[in-house]
Amino acid sequence: MTNETSNSTDTSTDNDDQPVIKCDGVYKIFGENTEEMMAKSNGNIDVEKFEDAGCIFGVNNASLEVHKGEMLIVMGLSGSGKSTLLRCISRLTNTTAGSIFIDGEDLLAMDAKELTQLRRNKMGMVFQSFALLPHKTVLENIAFPLQVKGTSTQDSMKRAMDMINLVGLTGRENYFPRQLSGGQQQRVGIARSLAVEPDIWFLDEPFSALDPLIRKEMQDEFLRLQEMLNKTILFVTHDFDEALRLADRIAIMKDGVIEQCDTPANIVLHPATEYVAKFTNDVPREKVLTCGNIMEEVGTTSDFSEIKVPRDAVIETVAEAVLNEPKSVAVIDDNDDTIGVLNRKSIIHILFGKDDSETLSTNQAAGE
Ligand SMILES: Nc1ncnc2c1ncn2[C@@H]1O[C@H](COP(=O)(O)OP(=O)(O)O)[C@@H](O)[C@H]1O
Ligand SMILES: [Mg+2]
Repeated sequence: MTNETSNSTDTSTDNDDQPVIKCDGVYKIFGENTEEMMAKSNGNIDVEKFEDAGCIFGVNNASLEVHKGEMLIVMGLSGSGKSTLLRCISRLTNTTAGSIFIDGEDLLAMDAKELTQLRRNKMGMVFQSFALLPHKTVLENIAFPLQVKGTSTQDSMKRAMDMINLVGLTGRENYFPRQLSGGQQQRVGIARSLAVEPDIWFLDEPFSALDPLIRKEMQDEFLRLQEMLNKTILFVTHDFDEALRLADRIAIMKDGVIEQCDTPANIVLHPATEYVAKFTNDVPREKVLTCGNIMEEVGTTSDFSEIKVPRDAVIETVAEAVLNEPKSVAVIDDNDDTIGVLNRKSIIHILFGKDDSETLSTNQAAGE
């Protein structure tokens, strides 16, 4: 009882704990019978019955939270409901059931005016199709949403120039979209969405139309921007590698359902469903796991190497150093305190550790 009391005091005073985005049991159901079925269901949504009545579940009972400065990646194959979920959260589409809160405010209860305010001042959006205005220059395209907001032309242009510099398009401000490559056009799309300084950034497959090399470059660029801007981000992709590269956490969707929502490391180490496990099979673990993920307890170790590795360093970046080191390597936290150890064996296990799964499948084949 005493615990409960102190807990509730904590949450009510600590506003930083409030998620920027919170979805609770969100459904988006398509089909002309949806309304009638909802009326009959009394809040008890039986997927099979709805589907028998011809309804399609775009989003099926999705719950998630995104915290300030966090990048949540929604990953899933085409048709899994990613865009629909994002459209519910940005209220570009009406949600069938469930609740959505933005900074603690009930999104689904907002009237048109509140919604416009929210979209103009708080939310930025980038889509796969760059959706630039063809007869406006780069500068005019980026300044456009500011002018819609009522910012003076001079201030809009100045801000647009800052954004152009930010996304590395300096010198191209007077080009028209058709004079730019796909990657450059998407930079304009990104700059335009950032011009209004949104706190929350929605990106729906922003790099999917770009070829692989440009795409990688854009991902790096995007990570650099996020490092500086620290936005709260919901980023949709069908590319698991992209998700792993960018995510703080990943929500994996299938048939409208969020199968697992977790850190890249936990998804790779502990896939919640068989479906998720299939994605993780081919993931190079050294690119995802950090020293902190695989370190062992310090225990009785006393003979440490001179090398130390940070907890958050990805294994790939320290593998060679640790492999060349006969002694145990200390893993340190932000205060330089030793919190665990790595040694050659643990690195080799990650790099070449297919043994476990092979043993497992052999055992399974033997009927164990
Ligand atoms: N306007 C719509 N009417 C009917 N079904 C739709 C509509 N929009 C999306 N869907 C269905 O919802 C599911 C999820 O679609 P979508 O969110 O676009 O998937 P993703 O973005 O993951 O590719 C799909 O089965 C799709 O056919
Ligand atoms: Mg989509």
